[in-house]
Amino acid sequence: MTNERRNFLKTAALGAGIIAAGSIAKAECAKAAKLPEILDQVNKDQGKQAQNMCGFAAPPIKNVRIAVIGLGNRGPNAVNRMAKLKGVTVVALCDLIRNRAEKCQQTLINLKQPKAKIFSGENGWKDLCKMEDLDLVYIVTPWRLHTPMAVYAMECGKHAAVDVPAATTVEECWQLVNTSERTKKHCMQLENCCYDNFEMMTLNMTRKGVFGEIVHAEAAYIHDLISLNTTGHYQGRWRLQQNLKRNGNLYPTHGLGPVSQCMNINRGDQYSYMTSMSSKDVNLGPAVKARLKNTPYAKSETFRGNMNTSIIKTANGNTIMVQHDVNSTRPYSRIHLLSGSKAMCRKYPIEMVAFTHRGGGKRGKELIPLKRKYEHPLYKRMGAVAKSLGGHGGMDGIMDARLIECLNNGAPLDQDVYDAAAWSVIAPLSEWSVANRSNSIDVPDFTRGAWKKNTPLAIVE
Ligand SMILES: NC(=O)c1ccc[n+]([C@@H]2O[C@H](COP(=O)([O-])OP(=O)(O)OC[C@H]3O[C@@H](n4cnc5c(N)ncnc54)[C@H](O)[C@@H]3O)[C@@H](O)[C@H]2O)c1
Repeated sequence: MTNERRNFLKTAALGAGIIAAGSIAKAECAKAAKLPEILDQVNKDQGKQAQNMCGFAAPPIKNVRIAVIGLGNRGPNAVNRMAKLKGVTVVALCDLIRNRAEKCQQTLINLKQPKAKIFSGENGWKDLCKMEDLDLVYIVTPWRLHTPMAVYAMECGKHAAVDVPAATTVEECWQLVNTSERTKKHCMQLENCCYDNFEMMTLNMTRKGVFGEIVHAEAAYIHDLISLNTTGHYQGRWRLQQNLKRNGNLYPTHGLGPVSQCMNINRGDQYSYMTSMSSKDVNLGPAVKARLKNTPYAKSETFRGNMNTSIIKTANGNTIMVQHDVNSTRPYSRIHLLSGSKAMCRKYPIEMVAFTHRGGGKRGKELIPLKRKYEHPLYKRMGAVAKSLGGHGGMDGIMDARLIECLNNGAPLDQDVYDAAAWSVIAPLSEWSVANRSNSIDVPDFTRGAWKKNTPLAIVE
């Protein structure tokens, strides 16, 4: 790939949102309109798959030596969970702000764990990745750092586990895929929602044929983050910056991950093309102007729409609707709706499974027999441990426990680099579609055709 094209793709992928902010020259807009052609060329430039990472098993690691980078709101909980799990030792801690790493060191001391090495500053993570006695780098930093850190970790010979979204541009998605294949290192996106109880149960029901053939799914990230985005909750207000300048479906993976596993995306089917539309903004802009009066943010014109709705068509002819709204006063929802030839389910606002169009489906007590029958075997085995570790009702615990179990046993991970890339790429593609009157755009095939032969994610007993 030429440097020019590489540079362009970077701006183009982010460009839609920037263009929407109205401050970028019209020339940028013209370039962005060409994204489909450029994508086509970039996809061709990627060459052949170096190693199929779907189903890839790395040599077993009896005791996984893990480092956690990013110790703000979420990172310290991961340190706490990992320190309590068997088969893993936290050997390094890193944050921009040293004091945050020192606080986590105290957690290790309280749990009678060996002291970890501490790294800090803007580039401390690079020295951390070069450590010799380290197997896995667990990344919980602002989005812009996810791919650079995961790629560097793999280049340094470490497995990478990276929080969501794993990447924010098309180019970054390819970087993750190419690096993982070349280095033969796992790159798992930490999509914890795939491990929530209802989602896992419905994956099990899907495999048992309860829904028949699934033809449509609905997913979302609807979460009122206005307060968190307009206070000092996120270090340096990184999330507000993302929401000001990018107009699209910025955080698609929480909803998309679980339904994509049920629909065998990258393992028998794949996203083919998508389209996206954003509403106007009536909440974020006014909130920023009112609450951050004396900051440069108050001066920015904000065009990040309240609600983004994207629709993906799959190669096998199915559809997925995915929404994103972090600015409206709406109850939390990831929807998680699966619609099949025999039955459907939906998680939000109330868990339900329906086998007929009559009535409101099975809910509450009526669901209990189904929950007993179809509880995912992993929950039976690991549910109690996961709950004791905590994190979003236990799903973070089961995700971490399962990641370590797979590494200990040299088993393939449940989420591979193709999942990370496909679920994350929806964000930059949605930005392009929003900026181009919801025109459709092809979704890159990060598996380079291997999706046709890859086997569906197994239900692990
Ligand atoms: N999966 C989930 O359920 C879930 C929930 C919340 C957050 N997240 C994700 O977790 C990540 C972190 O979110 P958060 O709420 O903890 O944000 P945060 O701002 O509280 O924490 C980010 C941390 O990264 C540190 N950091 C910044 N630059 C760094 C650098 N160069 N080197 C080392 N550390 C650096 C910051 O100092 C901060 O402590 C985000 O990607 C977010 O999307 C996921």
